[in-house]
Amino acid sequence: MQRQPLVIANWKMNGDRQLVTAMAEALRDSSAQHADVSVVVCPPAVLLPAWQQAAFYDNIQLGAQDANENASGAHTGEHSLALLAEAGASMVLVGHSERRQFYGDNAQRIAAKVNQILDESTMTVVLCVGESAEQREQQQTFDVVASQLAEALASRKQCERIVIAYEPVWAIGTGLTASPEQAQEVHAFIRNWLGEKFGPSGVNLQILYGGSVKADNAEQLFAQADIDGGLIGGASLVEEQFVAICNAAQ
Ligand code: G3P
Repeated sequence: MQRQPLVIANWKMNGDRQLVTAMAEALRDSSAQHADVSVVVCPPAVLLPAWQQAAFYDNIQLGAQDANENASGAHTGEHSLALLAEAGASMVLVGHSERRQFYGDNAQRIAAKVNQILDESTMTVVLCVGESAEQREQQQTFDVVASQLAEALASRKQCERIVIAYEPVWAIGTGLTASPEQAQEVHAFIRNWLGEKFGPSGVNLQILYGGSVKADNAEQLFAQADIDGGLIGGASLVEEQFVAICNAAQ
């Protein structure tokens, strides 16, 4: 089964209403070139309503960069799935390395978020995994990725509405993109792991690469057998760059 190409923009804590309008227009103008690519934008949550308005008639899905694992309540500053869905989000990034490193997303919280999304909403989980430079140097990449997958998906028997994003931490925001061969090797490992855990449906999950994807390297990365698209940070804030990356995912 051919997996649909998927490109997700992770704006992180960047952007504004002006960029929402400019990016929506740039994607609309280029939409014919990437008609069979799923394009998702994960802006800061406060910009989701602006995206809902700007892209109302466009084939652009919206996502959240994180979500609280509780349904509602006294969680100051957090966002519930219900509120994010009301603002237009249909996907949620879970376990991004920046949240693991700086904002307390440990294995327990990540699993709780995955379970809340899959059990209590109709949204899709984009589970982020990846090793640090030190772990790669110590030949621990596969062990780290397998452990992150196992912890996050421990209680899952089915794999509907799950996307995996492999984001080597050493490639995020550094300009040090993994080579196509490096990325393919880990993607193949992840796909094999998913097949062992979930069977044939696991093998056909979309696996995205993230970490310094740019217009000039996207095509080579996306040409790899087990890379189904990308999770894009910095380049997703620049219209020409992000449009070119979406086009490269054909
Ligand atoms: O979630 C995507 C992000 O971590 C990658 O960032 O700037 O290296 O494309 P960047």
